[in-house]
Amino acid sequence: MDKIIIEGDKELSGEVNISGAKNAVLPIMTAALIADGKSTISNVPNLRDTRTMIQLLEIIGAKCSFNDNVLIVDSSSVNNPEAPYDLVKTMRASFYVLGPLLARFGYVKVSLPGGCAWGPRPVDYHLKGLEKLGAKISLKSGYILAEADYLKGAKINFEYPSVGATGNIVMAAVLARGTTIINNAAKEPEIVQLCEFLVKMGASINGIGSTKIIIEGVKSLASADIEIIPDRIEAGTFLMAGALLGNIKLKKVNPIHLDSVILKLQEAGCKIDIEQNSISIFPADPLISIDMTTDVYPGFATDLQAQLVALMTLGNKSSIITDTVYHDRFSHVPELNRFGANIKVQKNTVFVRGCNELRGAPVMSTDIRASASLIIAALAAKGESAISRVYHIDRGYEKIEEKFRYLGAEIHRTNSET
Ligand code: UD1
Repeated sequence: MDKIIIEGDKELSGEVNISGAKNAVLPIMTAALIADGKSTISNVPNLRDTRTMIQLLEIIGAKCSFNDNVLIVDSSSVNNPEAPYDLVKTMRASFYVLGPLLARFGYVKVSLPGGCAWGPRPVDYHLKGLEKLGAKISLKSGYILAEADYLKGAKINFEYPSVGATGNIVMAAVLARGTTIINNAAKEPEIVQLCEFLVKMGASINGIGSTKIIIEGVKSLASADIEIIPDRIEAGTFLMAGALLGNIKLKKVNPIHLDSVILKLQEAGCKIDIEQNSISIFPADPLISIDMTTDVYPGFATDLQAQLVALMTLGNKSSIITDTVYHDRFSHVPELNRFGANIKVQKNTVFVRGCNELRGAPVMSTDIRASASLIIAALAAKGESAISRVYHIDRGYEKIEEKFRYLGAEIHRTNSET
């Protein structure tokens, strides 16, 4: 099993290109299943998760070709509306096939995802929403079966603006008879791009990017092409590294998607220059300890909470960081403490007392974003760190060692598990 080895405390400088957004491309790949024909998706990050999704689309019967970050999905031969346990258990986003396949076939069988490293992560909003659209849902041997002769438009009020449930319901509703209104919908940029892709395919969707999405069902969709938006979470991760370690410039980003992160980093004392598609960050001196509470977009993303905790371990005072989206998402805390950090967890809040330095240590990745926080801490720590279970980071970050090495980090991968 691979490990990432980092000799920390090296200054970073230079430019880094940000890849396409994982959380945008995954639902867009499943949306391509709704229509017959070839959709070309560009700026697709080459990640473990995108490759897992390709595997799933191929099991469902699509033909995929993936070269140089361009993915072509040919859905003409799609014939098997099932997502098996083996794939769903490695990537929850496999659940995104539910809406599209139900829309196209009136039947779908998807393994129930189960919990994950950061809590139970239920799918009740997805299922209740589909029931409102007229689907009959049952659970058999760990699989969800959804069927309907046809879906019909309905009014759906989400208790919480779930990203995944919004995506699934929109994808199911595009071919439903009549009008669907989703209240309290998610307005994350990735959901906005999914809706834009569906519109390119011929769907009728209004209120994109607002909390009220209105979908007029149409008879059929056609394949379409799209370029994936930059990954705001990867960008935020590099910004946090820059805040500690040197002046770096992020290219191919959308600064608007990073508003809340930029504001927090400025509050922490960083100087940030923004251009149309790039952001430069200069480290904070001193690094001011700040408080933060995660929220849905445009709030501070839960997917950057772990990285901010890593940054705050070197803050000048104490900071309080609360996760309101996932209350259990703190598996990085005991690992960060192995570097000498001083962090305590109480319910869904962490209390970070800033320390003068971190020291290299062997640590273990537990999920995608927790791994990113360990890389940030290891880059800042004095001495050598070894991060194991790096397959988590490979799920969500393209060429991460290469990108950091190019900026001046001493980082490499080994496969000598000891
Ligand atoms: C997506 C992102 C994930 C991110 C999360 C929140 C993808 C592939 N993943 O996950 O990286 O951290 O948004 O921004 O895009 N909930 C329910 N019932 C449901 C659905 C959700 O109670 O049926 C709750 C969840 O437990 C959680 C909250 O709603 O507390 C938000 O979850 P949701 O927005 O659905 O996250 P995902 O779509 O799974």
